[in-house]
Amino acid sequence: MKKNYIILLAVFGLCMAIAVASCSKLIPDMINPEQGLCGPTDLTSAQTLLFSKGNDQFFANRTKETGLGPYFVATSCGSCHASDNRGHPFTILTRFGQIDSTGNKFLALGGPQLGNFNLPGYTPQQIPEGATSTKLIAPITGGVGYLEAVPDSAILAMAASNKNNPDGVRGHPNYNSIPNYVSPLYGAIPRADGKYICRFGRKGAVYNLFQQVALAYNHDMGITSSYAPYNPFNYLEESMPQTAASPEIDNNDFYSVVFYVQCLQTPLQRNATDNDVITGSALFNTIGCETCHKQTLTTDYSPIAGLAYQTIHPYTDLLVHNMGPGLDDGYTEGNAKTAEWRTTPLWGLGLAPGVQGGNYYLLHDGRAHSIDEAIRLHGGEAGISAERYKQLSKAEQNSIIHFLKSL
Ligand code: HEC
Ligand code: HEC
Repeated sequence: MKKNYIILLAVFGLCMAIAVASCSKLIPDMINPEQGLCGPTDLTSAQTLLFSKGNDQFFANRTKETGLGPYFVATSCGSCHASDNRGHPFTILTRFGQIDSTGNKFLALGGPQLGNFNLPGYTPQQIPEGATSTKLIAPITGGVGYLEAVPDSAILAMAASNKNNPDGVRGHPNYNSIPNYVSPLYGAIPRADGKYICRFGRKGAVYNLFQQVALAYNHDMGITSSYAPYNPFNYLEESMPQTAASPEIDNNDFYSVVFYVQCLQTPLQRNATDNDVITGSALFNTIGCETCHKQTLTTDYSPIAGLAYQTIHPYTDLLVHNMGPGLDDGYTEGNAKTAEWRTTPLWGLGLAPGVQGGNYYLLHDGRAHSIDEAIRLHGGEAGISAERYKQLSKAEQNSIIHFLKSL
């Protein structure tokens, strides 16, 4: 049975690899918005080579010989982040164990992530008794380098501007501890307790893309690096070493993947001048969606010139918001509580079905199969704006959806 799953996963990986193969051909051209999100920002030729190397690593399927496992969720970054857009339920991951002030109590039992698959000869991993679990589907990776270059001061200003919001929108940055292999971002404003504003991941608990890549290799593929040198699954098998192994990805390959995701192009809006898109965009603002899904942000200094001082349209405030009991997963990360989620960037939304078999899998666990359904499932701080959406005429609702599909 397990073997069949591995074969299925491999076939799925292959299909995804074919779907994204056009990425490598595009380099170093600028992005064609109809073809997905791959393609570098303005890069020097040396940077383009590094991007290209990172692209290869991102889509390279790992095997036992190249460090995969023994427990893993998928065999490459690209099998979950197809075309650098939203993920498919086929590669949904399960995280478990409750994180509180003492950390995740289930780390010694193979946490924090379930290895859905294992190499032959290993006992399939189970969620330990008493552990809370949550399911997460891959978010869009296009444009994440730009989000990394948004300064803390802008995030704090967005949080402050909600102070007296009449709809009850609040939102706060996810302050979390950062590992010692991560250097603070340019303009970082740490809190008195030494915690930093984090912004990646569904609950915004990951600090920067360097940390995200270290965690992804480690937890999603069971691949150790200089930065995350322990195999999280070692505890599951007595025969496996409990000490740091030699890295299964070398530092140069690792940096190329960080650079690759940093340089992914922002999805570009299409049909922006259609009357219906203009109407939908205005309605999106008037019913209060834009309070959280901030249309325009600007980046600060970045060592990658193409990312510095740019105006971007991600439709997020990078804050976490209480989304109500319907979206409460009982799981906490950093200082995000169980019903709190980071505002999902809406860019690339209309391109997602193009790489997901024509379907939508929206919200953190992919439960919403249309944009309309995703909006209707908004509660908590977003409850009032979602209610206003429900009160609109069908034609007005369609304009909003038409607008969102143009992103
Ligand atoms: C099993 C599927 C899977 C694999 C494999 C995977 N990811 Fe992810 N990725 C996810 C999920 C799910 C999240 C959200 C995680 C969270 O909420 O903490 C995510 C988050 C991210 C983000 C943050 C996006 C954001 O806006 O917060 C980046 C960047 C990223 N992954 C890059 C990578 C890279 C690079 C690799 C390979 C080293 C990789 N991922 C492998 C599923 C996957
Ligand atoms: C209080 C802040 C807030 C408001 C207001 C808000 N949203 Fe959201 N939105 C979020 C958060 C947080 C998520 C992610 C929830 C999750 O993953 O469970 C989200 C997710 C979405 C998604 C799914 C995106 C994806 O890729 O999965 C869509 C579509 C969306 N919102 C549209 C809207 C529209 C339209 C409105 C106005 C009616 C709106 N939102 C109002 C915070 C907000």
